[in-house]
Amino acid sequence: MPKTLSLALLADGEFRSGQDLADSLGVSRTAVWKQLNKLSAETGLKIESAKGRGYRIPGGIDLLDADAVNAALSSEAALLLSSLVLLESVDSTNAELMRHAASGPVAGRVCSAEQQTAGRGRRGREWVSPFASNLYMSLAWEFEQGAAVLEGLSLAVGVAVVRALENCGLPAVQLKWPNDILYQGAKLGGVLLEMTGDAAGTCQVVVGVGLNVSMPEAAAGAIDQDWTDIATASGGAPPRRNVLLAALLNELLPLVAGFEAAGFGPWREAWQALDAFAGTDVILHAGPRQTAGVARGVDERGALLLETTLGVQPIYGGEISLRPAP
Ligand code: BTN
Repeated sequence: MPKTLSLALLADGEFRSGQDLADSLGVSRTAVWKQLNKLSAETGLKIESAKGRGYRIPGGIDLLDADAVNAALSSEAALLLSSLVLLESVDSTNAELMRHAASGPVAGRVCSAEQQTAGRGRRGREWVSPFASNLYMSLAWEFEQGAAVLEGLSLAVGVAVVRALENCGLPAVQLKWPNDILYQGAKLGGVLLEMTGDAAGTCQVVVGVGLNVSMPEAAAGAIDQDWTDIATASGGAPPRRNVLLAALLNELLPLVAGFEAAGFGPWREAWQALDAFAGTDVILHAGPRQTAGVARGVDERGALLLETTLGVQPIYGGEISLRPAP
């Protein structure tokens, strides 16, 4: 009999009595009360208690569930998926897979978590990752020919994420170079690729995707950029996170499996069709340097094409951000 209380027992939002919970765990009612206080402190979830009725999570919560994810996978994705690890809490799903990458085969390993305590964004930023509200997932894959063949992979991932959202009924999502996911100009999600191994030979890549699904206001205070979430974009009816996770895997697993052979070329046109900044005046920030120009899409390597008074120049990844000119 498990002695630790799982939030799944309260996920439906209905009251469960302290005695009922205590009996199902084989512990005392005081132990249940203590565990619920601890869970509430760790997750930020409001757990209500009412005399004579017990405990409940008002409104319930939509927890990640491996059976629900597996049930919504395409046959191709199911074949490519080697393991699906769903955690209640982790520092970062990317960090978790990077740790595994150091010690064994990782191709097709997927990790998602209800909460990240040290979610990583690009440029050393924090990725705000409250419990059971958004989607945080990472996928590991192995490539034989080193980092050079991975040019443009993060852009292709952006296209795959937009397709997954479309398949869940969310159209009009756009991309911002290199790989922000935007809805009506505000950030809906982001992509973070990390690599380990031999940069000139066999290397392991972790593709991390974060999507704001139903961002709680309390957590949103920590976000330092213009953001939105899928709940807002879908008029208050976001898809279930398990369905969303499966939709992402249905797009991402075939993408990584075919990328070494095909490269970014086949993705370029699709990326440009989703480019929120095409033909727009922009300022590139590269460290202390700023360059004004017009965004002219991307080349076959995924470099941004920036038109300045010197002509059209390719701008390669790294720590560059793109903002509309004032
Ligand atoms: C960005 O800054 O735009 C990239 C954000 C990437 C966040 C995701 S959430 C899942 C994975 N784990 C992390 O720690 N980061 C990525």
